Amino acid sequence: MDLPVHSFPRSASLPIPSGDLRATNLFQPVPIRRDSEAMLSEGPITPPMSPKPQSEANREGGAIVVDVQPRFSGAGVQREMSPDQPTSSVQTPMLSHRQPESGEDERPRTPPKPPLRLLENEQSHLRKGTLRLTDFEVKGTLGTGTFARVLLVRIRGTSTQGPSSQCFALKVLRKTDIVRLRQVEHVNAERYILSRVHHPFIVDLFATFQDSLNVYMLMSYVPGGELFTHLRRAGRFTPDVTRFYLATIILALKYLHSFNIIYRDLKPENLLLDSRGYLRLTDFGFAKTVDDRTWTLCGTPEYLAPEIIQSDGHGKAADWWACGILAYEMMVGYPPFFDETQYGIYEKILRGRIHWPREIDPLSRDLVKAFLHPDRTKRLGNLIGGPQDVLDHPWFRGVDWEALERREIRAPIVPHVSSSDDTRHYSHLPLPPQDEIPGLFREERPPPLSQRFEAIAYQFLEF
Ligand SMILES: Nc1ncnc2c1ncn2[C@@H]1O[C@H](COP(=O)(O)OP(=O)(O)O)[C@@H](O)[C@H]1O
Ligand SMILES: [Mg+2]
Repeated sequence: MDLPVHSFPRSASLPIPSGDLRATNLFQPVPIRRDSEAMLSEGPITPPMSPKPQSEANREGGAIVVDVQPRFSGAGVQREMSPDQPTSSVQTPMLSHRQPESGEDERPRTPPKPPLRLLENEQSHLRKGTLRLTDFEVKGTLGTGTFARVLLVRIRGTSTQGPSSQCFALKVLRKTDIVRLRQVEHVNAERYILSRVHHPFIVDLFATFQDSLNVYMLMSYVPGGELFTHLRRAGRFTPDVTRFYLATIILALKYLHSFNIIYRDLKPENLLLDSRGYLRLTDFGFAKTVDDRTWTLCGTPEYLAPEIIQSDGHGKAADWWACGILAYEMMVGYPPFFDETQYGIYEKILRGRIHWPREIDPLSRDLVKAFLHPDRTKRLGNLIGGPQDVLDHPWFRGVDWEALERREIRAPIVPHVSSSDDTRHYSHLPLPPQDEIPGLFREERPPPLSQRFEAIAYQFLEF
């Protein structure tokens, strides 16, 4: 058996609202296009994964250039919901003992290790006061996730060609939805964390805003589309291609974990290809600074570690588990634990039986199994050597990690983009009506003092 009977649409993050839960079929059939199989025939990137001379790395012929139509659109694919459509989620008996988010870190079982660095000591790189929402014009919708809509915006009056072009991705979240879905703490954490981290494989956050309806996060526009799109189109990746992407994610996680930040939503939908084909991790909606463990159920069903499902408290090890799921999904084409229902997925994760297609070589299996160890104290990445054990795993032999972090390695897919506002790698969703993003169209007068301390407004003072 090579491909399962299901095809694999986008996975929604778990929103964990307490009421208003609607179960939907998570596995609507989606056509999987395989017209870019050719890109996988390119020679190995690793081993050895060593830097190519810059000139060679930049030559079009040197890397695989992919120029594609927008990804499949239509009802089947858009399983992640816009904020006004409360998302698919079922509360399962297994999950009902969840602890509340606040105060959840008060019961660590082992003495927490101090982080290598403190996020508080990093400077916020947000621009304050120099930009206004009305400085931007909306060019298109790039995506909708479980909670957010992300728009392509451009600074008014700038051109799309040349160095002066100023295109950005603007993540828009509706305040009432955030409150209703109990995501206030998560959204504020997303802003705080992204404002202070800085890494070549993590999306940059430049500024945040709010108007009477929404909060906004202005990020770098990453034009190459989701890894999800490229993976579904290719079917699966060779170990070499997988190694390139996984290695960048591991460096990003190692960096985040050094601040005790856990990411908690690793999946191909949240990994974007930049213009040179390098990944950028986006969507810090579930990222959290945690000394030891935390108890909130969040993430995406197929990517949840057993300890999250069992409400046993989870920490960095859950991100390493997700690395195993991601590695498998890239090499096999679908995640190791899938089912038509969330409950079914959780049962399979806890049972832990993995089907190995014949073409998966023993070393790749060894890596995936090491990440997917049900006992987190024995899981790769969470052992005494920490992330260094991952870097030293024989599957990564030959990878030049420093060169990779300096972005000197040739990427396996270089997305074709012709201008800075080229959105060919994103779905072309309709623009939101003006009255849903009022602050982008007219300067709103600050609300009277009495309203500024309303229950909802009060929760987004940072923005
Ligand atoms: N910086 C960006 N550049 C381009 N597209 C982006 C960017 N950030 C997000 N997107 C697109 O928007 C989608 C939703 O954004 P995300 O932050 O993941 O929201 P959610 O928290 O709702 O999942 C992403 O899956 C991606 O397709
Ligand atoms: Mg997302």
